[in-house]
Amino acid sequence: MSEMNRRWVLARRPAGQLKDSDFARADEPLRDLADGEVRVRVTHLSFDPTQRIWISQDSYLPAVAIGAVVRAGAIGQVVASKHPGFKPGQMVQGAFGWQDYVQSQGFTELGPITPLPAGVTPEQALGVMGLTSVTAWFGVHDILKPNAGETALVSGAAGATGSAAGQILKAAGARVIGIAGGPEKTRWVTEVAGFDACIDYKSEDVAQRIAALAPNGLDMIYENVGGPIFDAALAHLALKARVALCGAISGYDTGEVYGLKNYMNLVIQRAKIEGFLVLDYFPRVGEAVAGLGALVAAGKLKGEVDLQEGFDNIPATLRRLFEGRNFGKQLLKIADPPLPAA
Ligand SMILES: NC(=O)c1ccc[n+]([C@@H]2O[C@H](COP(=O)([O-])OP(=O)(O)OC[C@H]3O[C@@H](n4cnc5c(N)ncnc54)[C@H](OP(=O)(O)O)[C@@H]3O)[C@@H](O)[C@H]2O)c1
Repeated sequence: MSEMNRRWVLARRPAGQLKDSDFARADEPLRDLADGEVRVRVTHLSFDPTQRIWISQDSYLPAVAIGAVVRAGAIGQVVASKHPGFKPGQMVQGAFGWQDYVQSQGFTELGPITPLPAGVTPEQALGVMGLTSVTAWFGVHDILKPNAGETALVSGAAGATGSAAGQILKAAGARVIGIAGGPEKTRWVTEVAGFDACIDYKSEDVAQRIAALAPNGLDMIYENVGGPIFDAALAHLALKARVALCGAISGYDTGEVYGLKNYMNLVIQRAKIEGFLVLDYFPRVGEAVAGLGALVAAGKLKGEVDLQEGFDNIPATLRRLFEGRNFGKQLLKIADPPLPAA
């Protein structure tokens, strides 16, 4: 009997907070490898807030179809190959999804399967050197364009993207204020990630704290959370401020579209707001990786990885992002690489 490929598929479009019943197991036997194909054993899955959008609606990508494997970035190992570009034992990266195995001609729906650089672990490739940090790199350098001495606010500051954005801003000479939930996270943001201050939005008045910490206003906002937190920040823009709109996680799981009250301050302060997607920067990923690598080597960029384990825990691990239960980049290991490294 052929080996089974365990798969989590989308059972229905979620309404409100994610539930176990939004997903279903649909395991199937592995088919023989065809000429030109590579077989990858998935080892590590990345969990990203945008998956909540992908399973709900068409957006910048088509919605995941009902009954289809849930789309996810991942790392895996080549275990068999009839493709000239891959050999067994190689560690590779791609959008492999919530399943044990992928068989393909070298592509997934988000682009080509690419080898992991030598010496880079799955945790690094999906974590501090991964797409969340690449996002932060371009959000800071292409959109915020920091000048030394300016003041920046970063929401979601203990998370993968926010913590990287704040540290990249610090390295560029900015003064950086974070916003995160709870004492453990806010302490990490200042003591480990080196932000100048961090507001605990769960126990403090965000508007009052921004006013106290940035009496001359915010020159830059790196926005990850949206909703009332973003609204409070908009009320404190400095003249000619820049806002990089990276995401608005506070509304993803509730479906609520928050009505901003302070957006006229963009007019009054002649400020600029720009949304962006890391997808558009894929041709320039090398640029970010070089910059991020230099910061890591200099000890100026640190990231936590929150590594869960177990195939059965996949749907519950996605929920952790919207409950604020992840501490750093959320990953889940579903297997150790089965072969010696190539
Ligand atoms: N534009 C792009 O191309 C791009 C690429 C990657 C990520 N993003 C965006 O970047 C943001 C962060 O993503 P990430 O992958 O780095 O995730 P993350 O920050 O590592 O994890 C999500 C964090 O969001 C916070 N959060 C969740 N619900 C919240 C709420 N209702 N109010 C306030 N905070 C809440 C929680 O932190 P606390 O415990 O501190 O609340 C949680 O730990 C998301 O908006 C995502 O969509 C955008």
